Amino acid sequence: MPCEKQRMILIDGKKTALTLLEELAAEVSEAVLGGRRPPGLAVILAGEDPASQIYVRNKEKACGESGIVSLAYRLPAAVSQDDLLTLIEACNARPDVDGILLQLPLPPQLDAQTCLLAIDPAKDVDGFHPENVGRLSIGLPGFLPCTPAGVMELLKRYDLSPAGKKAVVVGRSNIVGKPLAILLSRPDPYANATVTICHSRTTDLAAECRAADFLFLAVGKPGFATADMLKEGAVVIDVGISRTPQGLKGDANFESVSRKAAAVTPVPGGVGPMTIAMLLKNTVRSWKERITCK
Ligand code: GUN
Repeated sequence: MPCEKQRMILIDGKKTALTLLEELAAEVSEAVLGGRRPPGLAVILAGEDPASQIYVRNKEKACGESGIVSLAYRLPAAVSQDDLLTLIEACNARPDVDGILLQLPLPPQLDAQTCLLAIDPAKDVDGFHPENVGRLSIGLPGFLPCTPAGVMELLKRYDLSPAGKKAVVVGRSNIVGKPLAILLSRPDPYANATVTICHSRTTDLAAECRAADFLFLAVGKPGFATADMLKEGAVVIDVGISRTPQGLKGDANFESVSRKAAAVTPVPGGVGPMTIAMLLKNTVRSWKERITCK
């Protein structure tokens, strides 16, 4: 009898993120009913980048739904580096702020590395401070960057383990590609992969992708990955998100890869919602550490 192709798993990041937010909201509400202060997240947005404004609004909305107090600081695009650093210092010092998020990109007169370095690593819920990046790279506890952490959470919650398998990460950004490759190669049950990082100078990208049991796409080129670049039965995690005249699109051509993949994340509704959920998870973790220290 010809064997039937297994149904493809649609990895629903929206639903998974909602479950996570409900779990966080339950934890927060129990502690607050018990007399604890709620968690606090300072969200700093400098300038009027339209995409950043949407991200920040979504983060504030998710905070509200989980019982986290969001302190929004909307600064003019011409804000000076000194004024921004003064605000970050004030947030570092505030006992009711457990997490600080500095939305990127920053206006051109501001140096992102200097500003990120000013954030207290113990409140760096984005996981961008060099101390947390260093901790990640040598396997010490610290805050993990939210998008790669969200990807790892999806693998775990869908019981898709890359252990012993070949994982290919396309994209080498500091925010996604590099930290994701490190997390995938960690000695954890839902990691332990053999990882290849591909980038713009990779000689034969299609051949690298075809070798992958788990393919992670994070370059922001809408629809570039198609079925001919895929191994039959591969897991495709699409981290790319681009605004196109046809709406938000991922790096995978969803229709095409769905013919061959065992599991795929859609765009929108895949990795995106998980990023916000992991930000709030980091904030709640920071809050718990702070309220239990007192
Ligand atoms: N800009 C785009 N993605 C992110 C993110 O995850 N965190 C911050 N701070 N800025 C971003």
